[in-house]
Amino acid sequence: MFGKLRALFGGKPALVKGTGKLEDGHAKKVVFGDPIAGDGVEVIFCRVGGELHALDALCPHEGGRITEGPLEGGQYAVCPLHGYQFEPATGVAVNASCGKAKRYRVREAGGDCEIWL
Ligand code: FES
Repeated sequence: MFGKLRALFGGKPALVKGTGKLEDGHAKKVVFGDPIAGDGVEVIFCRVGGELHALDALCPHEGGRITEGPLEGGQYAVCPLHGYQFEPATGVAVNASCGKAKRYRVREAGGDCEIWL
């Protein structure tokens, strides 16, 4: 589905500038490629306990979108469609039974980060 995007990066990470500014307990959406055209992805960057995590915005429940903004209780990313909450470090739903949210590997350095899509 994201063939062009993956080919563009060739297995190398994409650089995202300024992730160091993301406050603890908050989430921020970054769009890569063109998700509307079917060749891109929306990523929700979350900071919990000082650690940066990245979840695919596509909710594993019924196709809603996990949103940016304050994390529930400063810890959990939320899909507002049915209120499911996901742990950014694992993608596990903590208040409902459904599959895991897809996670992406990130490495943060110098206020920016690399992400493997
Ligand atoms: S679609 Fe996300 S909680 Fe139902």
